[in-house]
Amino acid sequence: MHSNTKTQILRILRKSNGYISGQEICESLNISRTAVWKVMNQLKEDGYVIEAVPNKGYYIKEYPDNISAEEIMSRMQTKVIAKKVIYFLEVDSTNNQAKIIADQADSHGTLLISEQQKTGRGRRGRNWSSPAGTGIWMSLILKPNINPANASMLTLVTALAVVSGIVEVTNLDARIKWPNDVVVSGKKVCGILTEMSSELDFINHLVIGIGINANNKEFPEDIKGVATSLSIQCGHVISRQDLVAEIMKRFEEYYHIFLQTEDLSGLEDEYNKILVHRNLPIKIQNAGETTEVYALGIDNMGRLLVKDSNNEIVPILSGEVSVRGISGYV
Ligand code: BTN
Repeated sequence: MHSNTKTQILRILRKSNGYISGQEICESLNISRTAVWKVMNQLKEDGYVIEAVPNKGYYIKEYPDNISAEEIMSRMQTKVIAKKVIYFLEVDSTNNQAKIIADQADSHGTLLISEQQKTGRGRRGRNWSSPAGTGIWMSLILKPNINPANASMLTLVTALAVVSGIVEVTNLDARIKWPNDVVVSGKKVCGILTEMSSELDFINHLVIGIGINANNKEFPEDIKGVATSLSIQCGHVISRQDLVAEIMKRFEEYYHIFLQTEDLSGLEDEYNKILVHRNLPIKIQNAGETTEVYALGIDNMGRLLVKDSNNEIVPILSGEVSVRGISGYV
């Protein structure tokens, strides 16, 4: 059975808003009744609760907490982004796997997602806790035809897409901690690790790794104080598949806007609206030195503009410094 058929049947069932007959499914996909029946059985094994009523047809009563490739692809309304999804039950790091397949000619837009990462990686060589069945651990492969010097802005574009998706699905007041952490109630819910293979003037590929604490109930001791999850914040389990689909949809929109100017001119206002430190004092740490400044917002290159103690406005580059709130992480 081609996994595409499963994706298409899931899409049809979800769209049908009621019962849909086996006959209609056969006709629209040009497949046999037996093929439909086989997929229905597979879906039941996957945990979907499907009602089959004679003379009426099929209806999905309950969706499992399933982030399989078919489930995610069946929800995508995008043109290029996440049209192809690769699912792992367990993996070292989705970024590592993404790098391996990124050289394939048609990999642009491919999304890799795993239930669990054994050696999930964070920025600056840190590890990223990625237990099974809780979070969203995924990596997106991109091959943009842009100057490699502008690629780091795509991390900010991603953060914007993640926040928009979270707000849409959970209604939480999610914000960005510059440049690309996503926070809720002052604690981190998402981190982004972008890795690039490039020549001086040409990008071979980018891998954007996104880790979202969706339904985590607890965290390792070392990050307890600064990490939270969406379910802890909103008091109920959230649908990971809804969130992935929404984030990918937003990402495609923002990516398109970014490509028009190859900078953040079209997105900086939206980004600044959800910047957690906007118009607040912050501490910046640079090579062991801490300075207190006032955060204004980003410019069109994604630099953080701050006012220093001499009232001068200075742009800060990401990667150079870490930003902290006056009395803690945010
Ligand atoms: C950070 O340090 O804030 C970045 C964390 C990035 C974690 C994600 S999870 C999916 C992808 N695979 C990895 O190994 N890391 C990224």
